[in-house]
Amino acid sequence: MGDALLLGLDVSTTGVKALLVDERGRVVASATVPHASSSPQPLWSEQWPEDWWNGAVAAIRAALAEAGAAAGAVRAVGLTGQMHGMVALDEAGTVLRPAILWNDQRTAAECDEIRALVGRERLIAITGDDALTGFTAPKILWTRRHEPEVYARIRHILLPKDYLRLRLTSEYAMDKADGSGALLFDLARRDWSGDILERLAMPAAWFPPTFEGTEATGAVTAAAAAATGLPAGIPVMAGGGDQAAQAVGVGAVSPGVLAVTLGTSGVIFAPTDSAVIEPQGRLHAFCHAVPGRWSLMGVMLSAAGSLQWLRDTLAPGVPFDELVREAATAPAGSDGLLFLPYLTGERTPYPDPLARGAWIGLTARHTRAHLTRATLEGVAFGLRDMLGLMREAGLSIPGRARLSGGGARGPLWRGIMASALRLTLDLPTSTEGAAYGAALLAGVGVGVWPDVDAATAAIDVAPGAEPDPADAAVYDALYARYHALYATLAPTFHDLARFASTSAATYG
Ligand code: XUL
Repeated sequence: MGDALLLGLDVSTTGVKALLVDERGRVVASATVPHASSSPQPLWSEQWPEDWWNGAVAAIRAALAEAGAAAGAVRAVGLTGQMHGMVALDEAGTVLRPAILWNDQRTAAECDEIRALVGRERLIAITGDDALTGFTAPKILWTRRHEPEVYARIRHILLPKDYLRLRLTSEYAMDKADGSGALLFDLARRDWSGDILERLAMPAAWFPPTFEGTEATGAVTAAAAAATGLPAGIPVMAGGGDQAAQAVGVGAVSPGVLAVTLGTSGVIFAPTDSAVIEPQGRLHAFCHAVPGRWSLMGVMLSAAGSLQWLRDTLAPGVPFDELVREAATAPAGSDGLLFLPYLTGERTPYPDPLARGAWIGLTARHTRAHLTRATLEGVAFGLRDMLGLMREAGLSIPGRARLSGGGARGPLWRGIMASALRLTLDLPTSTEGAAYGAALLAGVGVGVWPDVDAATAAIDVAPGAEPDPADAAVYDALYARYHALYATLAPTFHDLARFASTSAATYG
């Protein structure tokens, strides 16, 4: 096979990343081209798919140039990207409106409509998930209600990464991991649910065929080859939504290997070998990008995002390392200060766009070091909530997990996480995230590795952190108090959210 290269292409919320990986799994080149989002109204979050394509073209060209590789060495493409975004296209494949993204919150009414039309229990039993504003189906219903002229012209629905697939191959296709995040899948059967589509009166013909992550979905066309510099005719594999591809990228591909990601959002991802569902739909149950496997996942909306907010607001210009070094001077438990990380609402364990952040227990003795340490601890407690739900859903949680994301870099937060979750944390040496996972999936598709287990076997881990027995005991005691707070404060959060929107309407 010589020096074949695999291209992982990730259309994330902030940019398109092109990553070239060789057949020993080593990263050869990487390029990222940013793109903008717009929020034309409160709660809205949109992007133009054409920007993704322009970014993909530029990123692929830059990665090929950096590799100095003959374009001919690229053997396959694997796709990944932000999940759940609605790309609506007409008969000719023309995009009808900006994509409505995963972090758009406009669809609360449509989520209620879905629960009413399908029945909440039935919805969770079939799709594995409750209706959340982030998912795709409510966005389609929103378009039906608010933009009937757009809705009337829809003939195809795609997810962000699948729009790049369309431009690369001229094929309408989707992977099962991302498809299952549309809230229209029969999770156990790993394909569109005729029953749900019928109850929501959505034409089945709008939804493309779905493929396992390592299956080919088409080949790079001559036009796409001319635009990107890729060889014409190489296969484009299904790939996976970003969470599933990220899990592949750190080797969380089979039950018992848990992945924890501390990015802007915080994620705990548990691979499963059957469609395990949290009965109240408080965890996301999706297909894995690994053929025939599933996942159970919790998503906290502001994890490292909370630290970023704290830095920008209370310590502008202070480097994160310095802020966190300062936090280490406060003791475990932050002298009785608790932080709730619901700064942008929450998803897991509370699907509540109106949840709000808080420091609880402030005294005049608390310093900025305490505020920061409490923030790091509050995020860890929120992730511990997810482990509790996973146990309730019947998963046995192993004693260790793989930690990745920007928040994994410093030893203090790693230590807090290990003690608060009572897990030994390993740091995967592959740090290229979802694009890396997509490249490995592509490699399996063209036979570089026999299967995803083999492709990820070589992913190494370095020691991250061990639970400290004394700190862990403090966190056990404090966690119980943290856990009780949401129920106590939710009525106040909702009232304050209403107050803020009325006062904005009155004075804004
Ligand atoms: C997963 C989710 C986000 C997006 C953005 O359910 O909504 O992780 O995929 O990256």
